[in-house]
Order: sequence, then C-alpha cells, then structure tokens
Amino acid sequence: MTQSFRRIALARYLRGLPEPEDFSIVTDPLPQPADGELLIHNIYASIDPGTRARLSQGPSYLPPLKLGETVGAFNLGQVLESRNPRFQPGDLVTWTCGWAEAGISNGRGYLARITDRSVPLAAWIGVLGIPGLTAYFGLSRLGQIAAGETVVVTSAAGMVGATAAQIAKLRGCRVVAVAGGPVKCAWLREELGIEQVVDHKAAADLGAAIAACCPDGVDVLFDNVGNASVDAILPLMRMNGRIVVSGQVGDYNLAGDQVHGIRNTRPFITHRVRMQGLVVFDDLREFPAAQAELAGWLKAGKLKYREVRYQGLEQAPSAFRDVFEGRDFGRHLLQLAPEPGDAAA
Ligand SMILES: NC(=O)c1ccc[n+]([C@@H]2O[C@H](COP(=O)([O-])OP(=O)(O)OC[C@H]3O[C@@H](n4cnc5c(N)ncnc54)[C@H](OP(=O)(O)O)[C@@H]3O)[C@@H](O)[C@H]2O)c1
Repeated sequence: MTQSFRRIALARYLRGLPEPEDFSIVTDPLPQPADGELLIHNIYASIDPGTRARLSQGPSYLPPLKLGETVGAFNLGQVLESRNPRFQPGDLVTWTCGWAEAGISNGRGYLARITDRSVPLAAWIGVLGIPGLTAYFGLSRLGQIAAGETVVVTSAAGMVGATAAQIAKLRGCRVVAVAGGPVKCAWLREELGIEQVVDHKAAADLGAAIAACCPDGVDVLFDNVGNASVDAILPLMRMNGRIVVSGQVGDYNLAGDQVHGIRNTRPFITHRVRMQGLVVFDDLREFPAAQAELAGWLKAGKLKYREVRYQGLEQAPSAFRDVFEGRDFGRHLLQLAPEPGDAAA
C-alpha cells in the first residue's frame, strides 16, 4: 500500500438522481492510527441506495454529509496496522468507512472480524452483511412473521428484498414478490422459487395486481420502495397486519413535495395495522447469531444471491446511478483491491 489513499467526496448536494459532478476524487495521506484505533485498507465498498438520504440537505436519521466528506458505505477490509488489542494486522473485517481505499476505525460500533471463511468472502458485505441483516431483523423483530402468513416484499430482486423473500419462505410464509421487469421476475420465480411474483412495471394498478395474488389479504408488507407502494398495499392488510418500512428507494431522489402521500390510512384503525421503520443497527448485538443462521442457509443452498461488481473507486458514482435505474440487480459492490489469496493480491 502506498503512503496515500483515494476517496470519493461529496462535491455538491444532489438534486434528483446522482450525477458525476456531485462527486470528486480526493487523494489524502495515509493516516496513522492512534491508541485504540486501526488502519484498514478496503477490499470492497458497498453501493447502497440508502446512502442517497444523506446526500441532500433534508431530514434523515443521520445528519446530511458535509461537502468534502467521504460518501458513506459499508466495507470489507483488511487491518494494516492495529493499536487495538482486539485486532491484529491481517485480520479481515466488516465495517463502515465509505467510498475510500483506506480509513481509520476507532475500534467501536459496526466493526467485526470475519471468522467464517467457508463462504465467499464478499458474502460478508452482502447476504451476511447489512442487506441480509436488514431482511432478517425487519422480518423477525418488526414483521414478527409466522408460518402460514402472507408476506409481500417490494423491490424483491434487490439484495435486501431477495433475502427477505427467501427468509419468509424458509419460515413457512406465503410470499408475494414485487419487482420491475421480466428478467428480475423470472429470476425470482426460477432461481429463488418464489411462486407469486408481480411485475410492477407491467401492472397498471399495483394494488389490484397484488390483491389478485392475495385473496385473503396481506399479513406483512416488507417495503423497500416507499410511500406509493405502502399506499397501494395498505387496503389489502389483514387484521393485525404489520408494515415494515425498510427503505424508500423510490422516494430518495424526489423533492419533498414530489413524494407520494399516504392516503389509505383507515386500515390502521379498522384492521389494527402497525407500521414501523427499521434501523438495522438497533439489532447490532444480535448480528452474530443472525449471521450464523443466514450462513447456515447459505451453505445449505437455501439462500441465494446475485452480485453486480464494479472495479475501482472511480466507478462509484456511475454504479450508484445504476442502483436507482435498476438495469441490473443484486448486491452492487465496488472492488477496490484483490481478495487476499487472489493471484493479483
Ligand atoms: N432500514 C435499514 O436499516 C436498511 C438497511 C439497509 C438497506 N435498507 C433499504 O433497503 C432497501 C433495499 O436495498 P437494496 O440495497 O437491496 O437495494 P435495491 O432494492 O436493489 O434497490 C434498487 C432497486 O430499487 C428499485 N427501484 C428503484 N427506483 C424505484 C422506484 N421509483 N419504484 C420502485 N422501485 C424502484 C429497482 O428495482 P425494480 O426494477 O425491481 O423496481 C432497483 O433495482 C433500500 O430502500 C435501502 O435503503 C434499509
């Protein structure tokens, strides 16, 4: 590793979809870890739609990024130097750093050593990482799914949605998956074995298309898309139904006054429907147990996933745009360095 590293900084606040001019590449000297800290070089950085929420000056659960700050992401990296007794140089870790080739961790928060190498390394930033855990805790803690219930998952070909659809199926639920276009729908049916799939791009009326698959209504909606899909599915909710607000990928690029309103609120009273937002880090302490269960399903071939890889830091802005345009699907990953053991490493 050289004595400098590159990172992608926010150059201006976004309006609408991400544009290349919104970002700049910055080269900084490699920092030195202080007591308790680690210097980590990143092998992967994630491309997450949720990152968009902090790139405009609007309310979110975290403050907006300052101009010049590194764009946030989840990472998988290798410890280069450690002044923290819990980690050694060479350890592979998952953590939050951003679109950057390296960074300093203070040793706290979301930082975990990867111990199970019997699965593909990149799974730790995908199906066993934040997207997989979002699906897991969204369905268990908030959705409280039970065998026999009907679960609708939106953006179901995405990493979070596909994992949620498969977990619900493994737990004995009837799953209706919503995705855009014939390729994604065919993958959900043929690769994941989801029997009921709705193509939201082909459906003139999303609510009616889902209703046709759910004659007895919906027990749990796991929503990744936002207000328009929540509003369409609310009238289908059964007694004591639960709506898990996982994400709002359809709303992130809209100005506040363009976001669809939620009008169909009566089922909150008539059917005692509960709607709750998820922040997966509320379950941080439970991550290892959930990852063990997810890894078990993965090794047994019961959990499948798809990846879209981009090589090199400079690809981040266009990869980020691709996520919203939805041309390809699955975990969008930026590869910043070869995996240890790879020929080029
Ligand atoms: N709550 C948490 O703690 C937490 C943590 C991580 C992620 N999340 C959320 O989980 C959600 C899914 O994340 P992911 O990484 O798996 O991303 P993803 O679902 O793959 O997101 C991209 C997909 O969103 C769909 N999409 C984009 N614009 C849309 C629109 N206007 N209407 C409907 N669908 C649209 C497209 O799929 P189609 O072509 O199929 O429509 C696109 O391929 C995101 O909203 C993210 O913010 C939440």
